[in-house]
Amino acid sequence: MQGLAAASRVVVLATFFLIGFGVAAADGRRRLVSGSPDEPCRQMTLFYHDILHDGANNTANATSAAATSPPALSNDTYFGMLVVFDDPVTEGQALPVGAEEEPAARAQGFYFYDGKGFFNAWFAFSLVFNSTAHRGTLNLMGADLMGEETRDISIVGGTGDFFMARGVATIRTDAIEGLYYFRLQMDIKLYECYV
Ligand SMILES: *[C@@H]1O[C@H](CO)[C@@H](O)[C@H](O)[C@H]1NC(C)=O
Ligand SMILES: *[C@@H]1O[C@H](CO)[C@@H](O)[C@H](O)[C@H]1NC(C)=O
Ligand SMILES: *[C@@H]1O[C@H](CO)[C@@H](O)[C@H](O)[C@H]1NC(C)=O
Ligand SMILES: *[C@@H]1O[C@H](CO)[C@@H](O)[C@H](O)[C@H]1NC(C)=O
Repeated sequence: MQGLAAASRVVVLATFFLIGFGVAAADGRRRLVSGSPDEPCRQMTLFYHDILHDGANNTANATSAAATSPPALSNDTYFGMLVVFDDPVTEGQALPVGAEEEPAARAQGFYFYDGKGFFNAWFAFSLVFNSTAHRGTLNLMGADLMGEETRDISIVGGTGDFFMARGVATIRTDAIEGLYYFRLQMDIKLYECYV
């Protein structure tokens, strides 16, 4: 009886898998996978603008804020400080002016500083697209090795227009204004696309 029960569980599981497969196929998407760094199935360049709240004067303009104070383990590298952001992301370098100019996407998530003896950060965020061009999300995470000219972070998944996407975002610091503003260029390359 035990064996029979186990066998019927296998059948039930197999049936579920088949149904799951059928639903995906009914959606009509094809899976494209590229094995070559030079041949992404989709790519775009976007600029990420982080305007950090200075605690006093830029409340209206700021799009990110420190959610923790760094503990007194390392005084020079903000080790342990976590910043939460809802940042505009644009196709060009310029910040959107006013409410009438729609950003290409918003970057919503956090970074924290995790270098004790040197500057280092770790990012986890969603690019949230809600425009006529794109609707959906791309989800990014990984180490921002700030000492390097360019850094690669992983694109671990997507939804909507970016259903099940995976890839790599190469980021480069494009501008810094003091402590309270920086801009990253993000070269997004997807190597797994469902089209
Ligand atoms: C805010 O503005 C005031 C007046 O200009 C200045 O004294 C102060 O240092 C500013 N605070 C910050 C955090 O920039
Ligand atoms: C908002 O902050 C950015 C970055 O510091 C600055 O370039 C821009 O002029 C500010 N805009 C306003 C309206 O204060
Ligand atoms: C950080 O600065 C505080 C205040 O100046 C000091 O008490 C502490 O020892 C410093 N910590 C380190 C790791 O340097
Ligand atoms: C997305 O855009 C639509 C149409 O402009 C708007 O109604 C909706 O509130 C937006 N959703 C989000 C999450 O911003």
